[in-house]
Order: sequence, then structure tokens, then C-alpha cells
Amino acid sequence: MAGYLVEDARKVTTHRLIQMKRDGKKIAMLTAYDYTTAQIVDAAGMDIILVGDSASNVMAGNMTTLPITLDQMIYHAKAVVRATKRALVVCDMPFGTYQANPTESVTNAIRIMKESHCDALKLEGGVEILESVRKILDAGIPICGHLGLTPQSINKFGTYTVRAKDEAEAAKLISDAHALEDAGCFAVVLEKIPAKLAAQVASELTIPVIGIGAGHEVDGQVLVVADMLGMTKGFTPKFLRRYADLSTIMTDAIGQYITDVKNVTFPNDEEQY
Ligand code: KIV
Repeated sequence: MAGYLVEDARKVTTHRLIQMKRDGKKIAMLTAYDYTTAQIVDAAGMDIILVGDSASNVMAGNMTTLPITLDQMIYHAKAVVRATKRALVVCDMPFGTYQANPTESVTNAIRIMKESHCDALKLEGGVEILESVRKILDAGIPICGHLGLTPQSINKFGTYTVRAKDEAEAAKLISDAHALEDAGCFAVVLEKIPAKLAAQVASELTIPVIGIGAGHEVDGQVLVVADMLGMTKGFTPKFLRRYADLSTIMTDAIGQYITDVKNVTFPNDEEQY
């Protein structure tokens, strides 16, 4: 992390991201939840690292994102910030920390910023959470919105299927996206919605629209790191491109280690003191 933001010209800022949209440059965003992974993701040249509440699934093995706590998100965000030199680090506000009332939302948002030193927060929802969004922005904290398939509402949706396929939901999504931009959000994530709708939103907004399962006519893309590296097996949505098969690589390496230990071929003479 830069000691003082303006001193480090390489550091990605929310302003630089908005400029990237103006310049027609695409934005790459990926999740990370730990120091070692974040170091690799940052050094590769990522624009935004998202400390997603998908840590609940990926790191803790929960079925949904709902159980992860504020303390746990702060723990993950701290580790990622320590590893990151260039990328903008965005931390998800976990379920239950910003839906109850705006004052509590600001208190929780300030805690994440103060303790983790991340750069911005992401909140799921539109007009329902607008008062909280405004108050957090008023406190000087940048916010990225998140619309479409918002996993914290999975119990309301009842399914992880594509959202906003019907006219009413699409119209609400468009008006929510404008409301978030008007409130002062610096970006919006659109998850699992028709590509045509995402393209329309991206063309109407001046802030970057980052898609996940939202087609390519948006301003950038985000994926979950464990999914795109092929560490997770069962999760196979259409939008997910696997860039590696780390599960097989890791299984083979770990299997070889077990064999070497059992056969006493590890450690060898050079690997001891
Ligand atoms: O938590 C997360 O990983 C996310 C992305 C899927 C956008 O919110």
C-alpha cells in the first residue's frame, strides 16, 4: 500500500478508473482474500482486487455469502492490502452490516476502512440501500455498487439463475444503476444479467460498469480467483472461463509429495543440514 496516495503514481485510484472508461480502456478486476494470492494478482497488473464476501464460500466453505462477519472481512482485507502495491483494493460490506439503518452502515463502513486500510467498499442493492450509500459516501468512502444477481439476497431470489430477464426487473436495474451513479458511486458491478441490458447500462452511465456474466459490452470484468484458476470443481456457470487447472496441478503435486515421504525419497541429501 502506498504510504501517501499521490506519491505513488502507479497506484490505481477511483478517478483513474473513471478516466479509463472515458478513454475506452477496459478494467480488470479479480477477487483475492489472502496475502500470497493478492501479491501474485497485484504483480500481474490487476486494476482492482476485490476482497469479496465470496470468501464465505471460497475460504470458509459456506453454502452462501451470508454467514461471513465484519471481523472476518476485515481480516481478509488487511491481508490483501498488505500485499498490494498497485491495484485499488475494494472490500465487500458483508450481509447485515448495511441493511438495517444508515447510521449503523456508516459506523461499519468506517471500521472496515480504518482497520483494513482498503481503498473502497462494495455494497449490494439499489434504492433499498440508497440512504446508507449516501451516508457512507458523505463520510468520504468510495463505493462500488452491485446489481443483478446479488448473492446476499439469494434467500429472496431462491435461485442463482440469470436476473432482470423480464421488463420490470430490467427497468428497476437501470433506474438503480442511475441512482447509484447520481449518489456518487465510482463504479457498479452487474452480475449475471442479459448482455444486452448490461451494454445499455454501460452506455448510459459515465462511471465504469464491471460485469460478471454480463457480456463484453461493459467497461471491465470481474471473476472469483479460485474459479478462474480452476481450484473449484463443482461451480460451472456459462460465464466462467477457466484459465488454469490448478486443482489437477495441486492434486498431482501433493500426491507426489505423499509418495516421496512414504518412499523416503524426500528429503534427499541436498535437502537436509
Ligand atoms: O464476492 C464476490 O466475489 C463478488 C463478485 C462475484 C463480484 O461480489
